[in-house]
Amino acid sequence: MAGQLQVDAELADYVRRMSLVDDEVLADLRKETAGFPALHAMLVMPEEAQFLGLLARTIGARSILEIGTFTGYTTLCLARTLPPGGRVVTCDISEKWTRIAARYWRRAEVDDRIDLRVGDALGTVDGLLEKDGPESFDFVFIDADKEQSVAYYERAVMLVRPGGLIVLDNTLFFGKVVDPAAQDAATLGIRALNERVRDDDRVDISMLSLADGVTIVRKRES
Ligand SMILES: C[S@@+](CC[C@H](N)C(=O)[O-])C[C@H]1O[C@@H](n2cnc3c(N)ncnc32)[C@H](O)[C@@H]1O
Repeated sequence: MAGQLQVDAELADYVRRMSLVDDEVLADLRKETAGFPALHAMLVMPEEAQFLGLLARTIGARSILEIGTFTGYTTLCLARTLPPGGRVVTCDISEKWTRIAARYWRRAEVDDRIDLRVGDALGTVDGLLEKDGPESFDFVFIDADKEQSVAYYERAVMLVRPGGLIVLDNTLFFGKVVDPAAQDAATLGIRALNERVRDDDRVDISMLSLADGVTIVRKRES
């Protein structure tokens, strides 16, 4: 049985050179975000954002929800995949990060398809459920406070249409999921999420060891 290939820096660089679709706006956004070193781990890996865009395009997503905007890198990649009339709703509690995001969305000329909601994500998502109704999204990306992961997931299953996708980020959580000494609320939240998703008969899943762990969840038709 083939095992998991260990990806060292040279191989990671090769993957990037062979596959990353890049431009000045994305590169500048990565650079500006890297200027906050303490928060560098919050920035999505560019290959992951590109992969999410590919997934969204593959299912013809027109209505996308992102929970956890940060500086808007994935939002931008997702917005670029939308057909005319499509939208990305993205939410974050931080004015500071989303102000940076909005600048880059304008520069990339995708701001007209992005609906930013600043505030606690649970409130935002509950508002969407009430106003837009269940099954109103094709694609949901969950990448906010990990303590609330199960609560976001349960709402995402309601919000996504049958056949739609939910993508969960950080499902390996820097390896802490397998460290018995890691008992912080965020790690417990991710462990609970992973178990909930594994045992959920409403969905099909694939857990990938890409980046910090990415789980793809497809809502079943029946
Ligand atoms: C890992 S970052 C998101 C990264 C982003 N998806 C990207 O692709 O660059 C997590 C974000 O969740 C936000 N966040 C944390 N707690 C939140 C909450 N209760 N409601 C909304 N956003 C929250 C943080 O402000 C942070 O920007």
